Amino acid sequence: MKIVKTITALRSTLKNVQNIAFVPTMGNLHEGHLALVKRAKKNADFVVVSIFVNPLQFLPSEDFNQYPRSLEADCKLLRDLDVDLVFTPEEKDLFPVRQEIMLQLPAVANTLEGKFRPGFFQGVATIVLKFLNIIQPDMAVFGKKDYQQLHIIRLMVQQLNFPIKILDTEIIRAVDGLALSSRNQYLNGAERQEACHLYRVLNTIVSEITSGQHGFLLSEKKAVEYLSERGWGVDYVSIVNQQTLLPASTDDQKLAVLAAARIGTTRLIDNVEFTI
Ligand code: PAF
Repeated sequence: MKIVKTITALRSTLKNVQNIAFVPTMGNLHEGHLALVKRAKKNADFVVVSIFVNPLQFLPSEDFNQYPRSLEADCKLLRDLDVDLVFTPEEKDLFPVRQEIMLQLPAVANTLEGKFRPGFFQGVATIVLKFLNIIQPDMAVFGKKDYQQLHIIRLMVQQLNFPIKILDTEIIRAVDGLALSSRNQYLNGAERQEACHLYRVLNTIVSEITSGQHGFLLSEKKAVEYLSERGWGVDYVSIVNQQTLLPASTDDQKLAVLAAARIGTTRLIDNVEFTI
């Protein structure tokens, strides 16, 4: 496995390489990331994983400095999976000048996560666009855990005519249902025990809706109340159309319920897809 730190070295290494899958990450890898890598390995001849904590996608109040960095352990995991190349660029190589050109995104980027993290998707889309230009992969792999991110990347690739296939992977969960995330390590013992209630409440919504017990709005409201009573700070619990991420309507069949909430100081997101 090659570890490459500069854009110049990366471009020369990839010059004659065909059928590349790209897996963008911010490091601190867990089984969720490894699922992305496995999907990439299955579908391509050469797998590039980037590890870069992207400053463009953090608000000044967020955890950019605190975000866990574990390059050595990450490289070991990737070597075990037989990854071909790890790209760990430095900030000054990716941003030799201030990144003034940023992608303008559609309205869906201002809903859900975008409403609570203004500029987040613009930062994500811009860095992914830069990586796609630098690496020029045939495909790129994203997880469904970041459901809205996956949606926006698909729109970007489609609307900017990138000749790249976007592959997705299912959410990987701990035994108690908590979706794996690098931010789970911020949780203390009690918070970690409580954290699985986010997934539980999403499943409750799915059964309420699929059984016809409650309408969308009541079910969302009950979920917010349930979490709030347990001490969570809820940003949103929203039932949406899978294809558009717009609020679900009664004609829709393929739905997803997305949620973001804080337990202690840690903000978690999760989602479940379902059909009615
Ligand atoms: O999902 C992530 O870890 C990040 O948003 C990504 C896609 C690596 C861009 O920095």
